[in-house]
Amino acid sequence: MFNPQIYTERRNALRKLIPSGIILLPGNTEAAYNYPANTYTFRQDSTFSYFFGLENPDFAGVIDVDNDIDYIFGNDFEIDDIIWMGPQPKVFDLALKAGVKNTAPLGELNSFIGNAIQKQRPVHFAPAYRAETTLQLSGLLGLNPLRIRDYASMPLIEGIIKLRSIKSDLETAEIEKAIETAWHMFTTGMRMAHPGRKEQEIAGTMEGISIAHGRPVSFPVILSTNGQILHNHHHDNILQEGRMLVMDAGSETHLNYASDITRTVPVGGKFTQKQREIYEIVLNANLNGIAATKPGTFYRDCHMVASETIAGGLKDLGLMKGDVKEAVAAGAHALFFPHGLGHMLGMDVHDMEGLGQINVGYDHEIQPSQQFGTAYLRLGRRLQPGFVLTNEPGIYFIPELIDMWKAEKKYAEFLDYDKIEQYRNFGGIRIEDDILVTADGNRVLGKPIPKTVAEVEATMADKL
Ligand code: GLY
Ligand code: MN
Ligand code: MN
Repeated sequence: MFNPQIYTERRNALRKLIPSGIILLPGNTEAAYNYPANTYTFRQDSTFSYFFGLENPDFAGVIDVDNDIDYIFGNDFEIDDIIWMGPQPKVFDLALKAGVKNTAPLGELNSFIGNAIQKQRPVHFAPAYRAETTLQLSGLLGLNPLRIRDYASMPLIEGIIKLRSIKSDLETAEIEKAIETAWHMFTTGMRMAHPGRKEQEIAGTMEGISIAHGRPVSFPVILSTNGQILHNHHHDNILQEGRMLVMDAGSETHLNYASDITRTVPVGGKFTQKQREIYEIVLNANLNGIAATKPGTFYRDCHMVASETIAGGLKDLGLMKGDVKEAVAAGAHALFFPHGLGHMLGMDVHDMEGLGQINVGYDHEIQPSQQFGTAYLRLGRRLQPGFVLTNEPGIYFIPELIDMWKAEKKYAEFLDYDKIEQYRNFGGIRIEDDILVTADGNRVLGKPIPKTVAEVEATMADKL
């Protein structure tokens, strides 16, 4: 945990953003895998973790806005638990680590909330993403569980997003720790990416490295020689010369801060000319997008810079034609780049997405695009110092999409479908870094993970 002062300051900052009432922040419960006693690795709710820091299941935090008091509700362990789990600290002692002096058994939360409701005090809660939390809130508040999201507090959602969006130095240091683990995952994965290997060996090894560094992966590893399938979690293929291997993975720290990195490498360790040409376009899109990342700029504009780099590069290769800016404005590049340049990163990989992506990535100044491709951009709003975000352009040859657009002659003035046919079995390439917006620009976070053609080839030459 950070020191207690940090959690106290965070709660006080939140208190100032909420007009009145109480803020109810339930922590997570254990989640059953295939029967109740066999659970997934426990993962605390990120917002609870941000304001209370405790990694225990079945806790709830309450921030009393009007009376400057914070509470932790949770149960002390009994001897039966201790036999299975070893000695456990008391809730009171745990709460002190978060700067909270008031604790009560979880069972008392019901009457506490009931009292507040009776006095007509607003009870602010955020949208739940787990059924257990939905039912808990439903029971505490007497609300229909199917409608409960409608009652989530907008001031609370906005307040949490305002605070969690700006990462302190301590937080970026945590993210950099998660990237350090990713450095080991990716350099190992690259060195293993040789013909005859199974994708699952590499994916499993990378996941194991994350666990060996202390925590599980921050999301299920995406690793495939069919990288044109954007979130490909199937690791059934055997690596073959001539394919590109997309590896998209990250780790989490003990304080729940994540990394999210993608590298794409040629199986066998040497790029063919065709692979290198596409790779360099994606790399330029990544670098140009990073160069455009600074305070005051809309991230939508960084997405457009990357999109124009992709369209320009593909025009040079003869896959696209016409005016690059017009092609991108029309959305023709989305045949190859059908997703957004990036998203916020923090305690969640898609940071705070559970609070509503539109609330995290957009605001009164800018609303999401309706256009295919750019519509998937999760972060469009103006950047501020302290934002941490991903930069992850890609070029993919998705046969199903090519066939559909070709049949419709879609954007025929910008796309050379005959030339594109020569790439239909290419696969995909994505490159992803984690970026901090600084006072005057940006900083690519973490120990650099091989990215240029020369760096990737040099790393892969050291075969595992
Ligand atoms: N790892 C999923 C993403 O890059 O958004
Ligand atoms: Mn990723
Ligand atoms: Mn990402």
